[in-house]
Amino acid sequence: MSHAAGDARRVLDRCDELATVTSIAHGLERVHLSPEHARVNVMAAAWMAEAGLRTWQDQAGNQWGRLEGREPGLPALVLGSHLDTVTDAGRYDGMLGVVSAIEVARRLAPKAAELPFALEVVAFSDEEGTRFSTALMGSFAVAGNWHQDWWDRADRHGTTVREAAKNFGLDPERVHEAARTPEELVGYLELHIEQGPYLEAADRPLGVVTSIAGARRFTGKVVGEARHAGGTPYARRKDALVGASEIVLAVERLAVELHGIATVGRLQAYPGGVNVVPGLVEFSLDVRAEHDEDRDALVDRIAQYGRDFCAGRGLGFELVEAHNAAGVYCDADLMDSVVAGIAATGDAEPLRIWSRAGHDAMAIAAITPVAMIFVRCEDGISHAPGEMVRLEDVAAGLDAFEAMVLDLARRRS
Ligand code: GLV
Ligand code: MN
Ligand code: MN
Repeated sequence: MSHAAGDARRVLDRCDELATVTSIAHGLERVHLSPEHARVNVMAAAWMAEAGLRTWQDQAGNQWGRLEGREPGLPALVLGSHLDTVTDAGRYDGMLGVVSAIEVARRLAPKAAELPFALEVVAFSDEEGTRFSTALMGSFAVAGNWHQDWWDRADRHGTTVREAAKNFGLDPERVHEAARTPEELVGYLELHIEQGPYLEAADRPLGVVTSIAGARRFTGKVVGEARHAGGTPYARRKDALVGASEIVLAVERLAVELHGIATVGRLQAYPGGVNVVPGLVEFSLDVRAEHDEDRDALVDRIAQYGRDFCAGRGLGFELVEAHNAAGVYCDADLMDSVVAGIAATGDAEPLRIWSRAGHDAMAIAAITPVAMIFVRCEDGISHAPGEMVRLEDVAAGLDAFEAMVLDLARRRS
């Protein structure tokens, strides 16, 4: 096995190891401020230390490592991604970026004394928002954009972020200490699986990300009346599930019409009896588009449809925003280094892609320039156990990632 393939093998083996740390019996789920989160931070810290990095966990539960550059205390180029997952996740979304960043730092450690910046690696704690229905809590804290109202958000067991943070060993009064300043940073580079089919269709292992779509997420309710399924004539029914079903269909229709992306990923009918007309439906709504104005227009149309449709059926309708991240453009200068990095692996004109998926880079863009490299994933599958990457693509990704850092170092020297 070549040097690069050996490194890629280690990266994939570590992703396998991380995937054993899960809170569910079958499959992978690892959420913010959980015992599993603590365990993978310890694993990542050990790999960072082995690569020669000084390590620490910040007050938002993010795990960090740092290599000094040609003198101590220089602003840092940060490489990273996240270690939390969705429910029944794949093993590469986030993890591939963290483990690859550690691998690149390991490769560069012997040359760190020549770098015009420090090199840091970060494993963010909450990109997905699986536990508390708001995403990017770890990276927003680093960007100094922690929202005080997050403390009282509860998970499905009623545990609040404040309680979970304390149980994790963090001090909520000190979350501001996780914030970094623009002066401390040179930029942020994230390697991530594409989570879509475009690289595979173009027969390219790697791509350069141009922008990251900002998602808005909502929890919705359709309120009807629970009554006897046999005894209640249709004219007197207020069936919340029939109403919610019409809304789900409209969400897809409006998204296609307005060139956005909108998904109802969770839908729960109450009381859930086979012989009871559903009186209440709770649902989630995730809305994205390449440009925030188009996304917001789609949100407005969906909300309008929901209100009008429900009013016409005597149902109540409610949509409450749970998450709002502005879309960001990747930095032109850092993108030049990404292109140079990918070119060093043999693709002189890398495919440029806007990311439909959200990433920690969006939160970090508030304090430093960001850029991303995408790695092809099989059949574009992600947020599902079937997530798959090829060894040779990971090897190319590592080479490109390292070459990007060196290109930037050359240009900043
Ligand atoms: C994060 O993975 C997202 O939902 O885009
Ligand atoms: Mn994800
Ligand atoms: Mn991700």
